[in-house]
Amino acid sequence: MKNIKDRFPIFKSHPDLIYLDNAATTQRVDKVDDLLDEFNRKDNATIHRGVYELSAKATARYEQVRSKVAGFLGSDNPNTIAFTKGTTESINVVAHSFIKKRLRAGDNIVVTVMEHHANFVPWQALCKEMGCELRVASLTPEGSIDTLAFERLVDKKTKMVAITHISNVLGTINPIEQLIETAHAQGAPVLVDAAQGAALYDLDVTKLNYDFLAFSAHKLFGPFGVGILYVNPEYMGDMQPYTLGGGIIQSVSANEVTFQSYPFNLDAGTPNVSGVLGLGAAIDFLNELNRAECISHTHELANRCVVELARVKGIRILGGTQMQRSGIVSFALENIHPHDVSSYLNGDGIAVRAGLHCAQPLHYFMKEPSTIRISFSIYNADNEIDILIDSIKSLKKFWEQ
Ligand SMILES: Cc1ncc(COP(=O)(O)O)c(C=O)c1O
Repeated sequence: MKNIKDRFPIFKSHPDLIYLDNAATTQRVDKVDDLLDEFNRKDNATIHRGVYELSAKATARYEQVRSKVAGFLGSDNPNTIAFTKGTTESINVVAHSFIKKRLRAGDNIVVTVMEHHANFVPWQALCKEMGCELRVASLTPEGSIDTLAFERLVDKKTKMVAITHISNVLGTINPIEQLIETAHAQGAPVLVDAAQGAALYDLDVTKLNYDFLAFSAHKLFGPFGVGILYVNPEYMGDMQPYTLGGGIIQSVSANEVTFQSYPFNLDAGTPNVSGVLGLGAAIDFLNELNRAECISHTHELANRCVVELARVKGIRILGGTQMQRSGIVSFALENIHPHDVSSYLNGDGIAVRAGLHCAQPLHYFMKEPSTIRISFSIYNADNEIDILIDSIKSLKKFWEQ
């Protein structure tokens, strides 16, 4: 962990940057930039169409990444993996390409109140369109899913359970194994939004038995514009194309069209070839890490940050000080708007997020109009917490003058 920061070129350009917005996007590791640079300069070609050498090579490398991602999730079937634009698109794909045709008026979909809008709004819109009910599982005051209440929401009419692995605001790590069991007992498939956890936590499908998993390369120290969708083999045959066009066709005439099967039926148009290869390099980097050590590093930073924040008068920490959290801590400061806090911290070279973090239902539930979010990653260090706390204290002094 000691020299890990050296692997991230951004910190060479901004040596004093204290980057605490990792829940929004992580910084890109050198391996990814190197690969993108090399591909763009030497190997640039699109895939699945050309029979010339450059295109064949790009196709082979693209398909190798599919295998690599499957392996990363513990699957030996590369065709369980589709590439999208991001977590958001992966979730929309499942809503429209899989579940929509199974819904009947009176059915329901279960989510939780801690979902990012990406895992809330698509289900809400679908329920409205199809005459179904969106059931929203509530939380305990400490910010954990109320599992008993959740059990009561899932029934034989539940056609999908969509839950986040880790809350992007509270940092709560959900007991997804238990939630999946509850859903499966009622015959409901489960989509796990793994945007916040996929980089470091073990999401091996053979242990967790989820049906759909969605995450983004840009939160894995990889490039923007690439998402991953895992689909359980049981449901692969039910996946319809999401966008129509070239690249997904088996045959087409004036009146008829037939499509390739999943995952190739989700690759309409020219895909983000370089981005997918960059994702492959990011996965190689993740495989080099001692992920257990990385998790304990980020947990320790978050726990220490909570302790130090709690000492500052007028701070409210979402979920309180006792909850088990990942590397994410959100708080509000009495009488000072989160945007003012964030701007002040920016003056000290500290990048944090302020606002609603695409989680308005959660903020309503917690009765907080908006918050400041600190999110740690593997390259953050203890001394950055000292600088953060000093900056918050000096803001308070300045504000109270
Ligand atoms: C929990 C969660 N889900 C979904 C998303 C959406 O990810 P993307 O913007 O990469 O599609 C985010 C992004 O912050 C997130 O934190």
